[in-house]
Amino acid sequence: MSTPSFDDNSALPETAVPEAEFISLTHLSPSTELNPVPSRGIDLGFFRTYVETLETAGYDYTLLPYGSSSADSFVTAAAVGTLTERIKPIVALRPNTTPPTIGAQKLATLDQLTQGRAVVHLISGGNDAEQARQGDYLPKSQRYARTSEYVDVLRRSWTEPAAFSHEGEFYKFDEFGPGFAPYAGSIPISIGGQSDEAFAVGGAKADIFSFWGEPLDDLRAEIDRVHGIARDAGRTTLPRIWVTFRPITAKTDELAWAKAHEYVDKIAANVSKVRPLLGKGSPQNVGSQRALNFADKSELYDRALWTRTAAVTNAAGASTALVGSPETVAAAILDYIDRGASLVSIRGYDTLADAADYGRHVLPLVRQELAHRKATGRRGPLQSQHLGNYGAEYGTYATAGRP
Ligand SMILES: Cc1cc2nc3c(=O)[nH]c(=O)nc-3n(C[C@H](O)[C@H](O)[C@H](O)COP(=O)(O)O)c2cc1C
Repeated sequence: MSTPSFDDNSALPETAVPEAEFISLTHLSPSTELNPVPSRGIDLGFFRTYVETLETAGYDYTLLPYGSSSADSFVTAAAVGTLTERIKPIVALRPNTTPPTIGAQKLATLDQLTQGRAVVHLISGGNDAEQARQGDYLPKSQRYARTSEYVDVLRRSWTEPAAFSHEGEFYKFDEFGPGFAPYAGSIPISIGGQSDEAFAVGGAKADIFSFWGEPLDDLRAEIDRVHGIARDAGRTTLPRIWVTFRPITAKTDELAWAKAHEYVDKIAANVSKVRPLLGKGSPQNVGSQRALNFADKSELYDRALWTRTAAVTNAAGASTALVGSPETVAAAILDYIDRGASLVSIRGYDTLADAADYGRHVLPLVRQELAHRKATGRRGPLQSQHLGNYGAEYGTYATAGRP
């Protein structure tokens, strides 16, 4: 692998975005893939501490995920809103669970309640069996067509000054609204998924398009693809890009690798306990297929992207790691910001402790570098001083103790 140049005086790449925000995912109990704890589901004390930790750590957003056996994401988002003053709850919403008029109403309510902090992440559903658990029998291509109509109804519900009627392929209603204007005019809509259909809907209609962590060049190609679709749809404002990682950090790269090897063994041993509904065999959703494909080709990519955590979990959900010291991980995040990601989700495997650690040691480094760039138009020294896998020693730590 050739080492790219991170000369402090080099101009920034054209694809670099000037600003980035941080996302986490809200955990409702102390149970983790490292240490599964049988529990009642929501541990209120833990939930409160976790959310307060995210706020103190300086995260900008937190995702409330959704699954047929999870807690309801609207209810948890409302709780996040009342426990915090700044962080924005992102509600994961599957259109099959809530008609769009009611979705618009609930989101507008959350937005008013949080004084403009609501965000929605629309999930079309990546797995037929999981969708069927709640009575959704549409094939995936139609699920995305339904999401597309859903987005239209959401936006109209939030902006129409008078009651309106609708008759589409999936929804029909008479004289809905008005009265659901968001607090500050609009609520950002994110789309998750990596199938062709996800790109078509997200490129044409989403404010945010989201990915799980991929190698830099592959992610950039995907960003070009979604932005190309947006331009073809006549958009002048392109979707913002969200990319998700599960970092494993320690004081030094060497210590982080020792931790990573210890973690992956535990994760592999526990995965079926933490995700009892996890399917065997090839996943149906393209995002997971891509992650497994990258894992098959190599364990390590770019400065610090590690794929073994994806391999041992069948890439169910966000699973790819960034491994290294806080400086190396921050530099790796900047590599993605250089490629156009402006929303960076980092959630550790040791959920609560990692959220606090990232807030203390990772977020400030990225923000400091971005402030430096804003002031000088040049890179600071972080990316050239913490090379990770672009340097010599890192590879030996990554493979230490492995056959
Ligand atoms: C950042 C991110 C977060 C996601 N959160 C959820 C979630 O909370 N619940 C869920 O069922 N799927 C979630 N997904 C998965 C996909 O949205 C889903 O599998 C997709 O709709 C269909 O996959 P495909 O288009 O890649 O084939 C998420 C995906 C991404 C990229």
